[in-house]
Amino acid sequence: MCSFVNFNINGYHYKLPVIYGTFCDKAINISQLRENTGFITFDPGFKNTGITKSSISFIDGEKGELLYRGYPIEQIINKCSFIETSYLILNGELPDTAQLKYFSEKIKKLNHIHVKINQILDQIPNSYHPMGILSYLTYILDTFINSLEEKEEEMYLHLLAKLPMLAALTYRKKIGLPPLPTYADYHLDYISNLLKMFFSIPNKSYKQNPIIVDALNKVLILHADHEQNCSTTTVRLLGSAHAGLFSSISAGMSALWGKLHGGANQAVIEMLENILKSGGNIKKWIEKAKNKKDPFRLMGFGHRIYKNFDPRARIAKKVAENVIQKLGISDPIFELAKNIEENALKDSYFVEKKLYPNIDFYSGIIYQAIGIPKDMFTVMFALGRLSGWIAHWKEMKFNREPIARPRQIYIGYKKRNIEN
Ligand code: CMC
Repeated sequence: MCSFVNFNINGYHYKLPVIYGTFCDKAINISQLRENTGFITFDPGFKNTGITKSSISFIDGEKGELLYRGYPIEQIINKCSFIETSYLILNGELPDTAQLKYFSEKIKKLNHIHVKINQILDQIPNSYHPMGILSYLTYILDTFINSLEEKEEEMYLHLLAKLPMLAALTYRKKIGLPPLPTYADYHLDYISNLLKMFFSIPNKSYKQNPIIVDALNKVLILHADHEQNCSTTTVRLLGSAHAGLFSSISAGMSALWGKLHGGANQAVIEMLENILKSGGNIKKWIEKAKNKKDPFRLMGFGHRIYKNFDPRARIAKKVAENVIQKLGISDPIFELAKNIEENALKDSYFVEKKLYPNIDFYSGIIYQAIGIPKDMFTVMFALGRLSGWIAHWKEMKFNREPIARPRQIYIGYKKRNIEN
């Protein structure tokens, strides 16, 4: 393995150091490039730019592999709960029984919110998208927590405890269910509590369905972390400017909301509904997606890093199959999605560009099966991604990363004078 690459600019010879990761992923360290040569690099969308060294998750896009703290996603999905996965992502190791009990109980103890949050929520028009509401409520949440008095670790737990409640309140207000008590049920695990907060009705005891609990556990695990994606990078960028934890996470949510990122799960179902409504002519829609003059893209397909199957999509498809079958649902949208996948994967456009279904192609189908409405899909994604965002925030702080401040190539006017 070479420790330098040789580099010639305008007849001058430079040696640039090379950095290697665990799996021999390699980067040329250009941190002194401008100082030594006057050049910067140009890489819109950061397609070839590493912004940090990280030990939280790893994707091998060519093989279609995803590891959380070294563990393959396929093992985590079968052996861990969502709360264990969150612990792993946050702390680097899976918890033992005592650690898990302590972590879960600590979260349960913080699982309450200030009554004023309900009043604030009441002022927000129902027409607002739940992602905007969640981002806003997260942004103001630390006003209701004495963040100066508490340790930062405690703040992470406040977020893990309170975000599901904010999501549930947002959902309940939207559909007109009475608000929750501002605290959760101490006897339930994280996912069961989340479901109860969403769906319980005051005059009826809420009965948990283990099929739904299992499906939600799994789909949230699939969302838990994914390297330097757009929302995680947003959280890190804000943190690098020493913005607060809650506002950084809130900004991450806004990034996630975008249709090319987490907002794709809602866009996928809307697209599938449209295709079905317009007669279900798959070939026609695939042609549309291939046509460069048409803005339509096959939502839920393609990924910046995966140039092979997204392993999360494979698992999500199985989870969808399982939950739909066990709940006895007949879902034409799921049948259509499978058909589109089959057709697209045979099409030379998708084959040559290495476009495979991503997590969002099937996650919305799972959410729909368990009763979550379309405009809440990305909110669920955010609940899943929370431990990842916090872990990256922690890592960024631990590394004492400098403020993120890219350069540009200026193409505007030359210096000129204002004429009187
Ligand atoms: N349908 C049709 N063509 C596509 C698609 C698609 N879904 N995705 C990429 N392409 C084409 C694209 O037009 C381009 O063609 P060309 O090289 O001829 O210009 C080529 O494939 C490479 O695409 P790109 O947009 O340059 O790739 P990117 O890495 O910048 O974008 C992406 C990745 C995920 C934004 C993109 O694939 C996309 O827009 N997919 C649909 C939205 C989606 O499903 N997003 C969820 C991503 S996974 C979950 C998450 O991150 O939150």
